Amino acid sequence: MTDTDIHKGLAGVVADVTAVSKVNPETNSLLYRGYPVHELAATQPVEAVAYLLWNGDLPDADQLAQLRATERAHRALPDDVKAVIDMTPLDAHPMDEVRSAVSVLGARDLAGTGSVLDAAGTPEQNLARSIRLFAALPAIVAYGQRRRRGLDPIDPREDLDYAANFLWMTFGQDPSTESGIADPVVVDAFNRSMILYAEHSFNASTFTARVITSTLSDLYSAVVGAIGALKGPLHGGANEAVLHIFDEIGDADNVVPWLEDALAHKRKIMGFGHRVYKRGDSRVPTMKAALDTLVAHYDRPDVEALYATLEREFVERKGIYPNLDYPSGPAYNLMGFDTLTFTPLFVAARVVGWTAHIMEQTASNALIRPLSAYNGPDERHVDGFVDDAGTSAISLRAAEAEG
Ligand code: COA
Repeated sequence: MTDTDIHKGLAGVVADVTAVSKVNPETNSLLYRGYPVHELAATQPVEAVAYLLWNGDLPDADQLAQLRATERAHRALPDDVKAVIDMTPLDAHPMDEVRSAVSVLGARDLAGTGSVLDAAGTPEQNLARSIRLFAALPAIVAYGQRRRRGLDPIDPREDLDYAANFLWMTFGQDPSTESGIADPVVVDAFNRSMILYAEHSFNASTFTARVITSTLSDLYSAVVGAIGALKGPLHGGANEAVLHIFDEIGDADNVVPWLEDALAHKRKIMGFGHRVYKRGDSRVPTMKAALDTLVAHYDRPDVEALYATLEREFVERKGIYPNLDYPSGPAYNLMGFDTLTFTPLFVAARVVGWTAHIMEQTASNALIRPLSAYNGPDERHVDGFVDDAGTSAISLRAAEAEG
């Protein structure tokens, strides 16, 4: 096997087909089941996009109402899931908390299924499990942020859609609005971000989910593995890392000296670059527009100045463009989410894509098991070992030395 046969990081490898989404780096476009994602973000509630990714088509009014009713019925967290979150150290990363909570939800749901041979589930069971996870994750994320702030959890509200309810469970009463729930500008920006994060073909966490699914393991195990992959700063953790960078820089005037120093130390600038897109991430313009509305809404021109200056200076020096995490990090910050909560928000959105891929993998499965080229020590033997034929390591070595 030559070096050219090895595709480190699986770069450029087409591992399977998928009908869930299409990333086209040439035209900077991303299609969910054929629909451009910016059209979906501008017109659809996140529940309709979830329906689309799971079922292949946008829902009609009855189908959407039915999904919404099921989603609302499964928002509240069971007590043992709350207990597991409460047992997680307060200074653990919230992704560890989310990973554990999903694992317990899975164990509850699969209790009594018996042998591992029954784990994979039927298509109907897996769709129902996907909806339940989609419904429960906002409560897990909101519960975690409020716990870290020393605040009581807030129960879900049946009269609110997914995005408004998510903000309600996280922040509760907003005294600045007549309705008491988050301002529609904020709800709309949040809904768009959830849609943009929902799916992105064979990214690292989705591929992890597909690998686990390919062993005929269960949907929850695949999602737990995907959460682990998403935590990394080269993947989902980048939205959190962008805010750490913003905090380090402070304000727009400090961008150039900070950047010169960071590049001199060969630091990666989080929120820039992408394995697939090399001329800009197709999702950025839509998320940047949402960020712009938030900057105006909260009257924070300083955020825009820092954002624009870092982007300009970095692109000028390296020719590497922002990815979705660059605008979404400051957007979530303006909405009031803690920086550590950003990647869990990504989980809440991406669980839709993961589960769509899990169901696709299950429907047309082949065990995912690549080969490796060995570059370790040549064969050697343990001193004192004598095999059944009476051959010892010492005599083997002597025989090898004689050639
Ligand atoms: N900051 C500084 N340099 C970067 C960079 C960044 N954000 N992204 C890529 N580069 C540079 C690398 O240092 C490398 O330079 P070199 O050839 O001189 O060594 C070159 O560009 C290629 O980068 P590489 O990491 O090999 O490309 P990749 O396709 O494997 O990487 C990412 C894609 C996403 C892992 C990478 O761009 C990155 O680490 N970005 C920051 C993390 C991030 O925002 N992740 C979210 C992705 S949606």
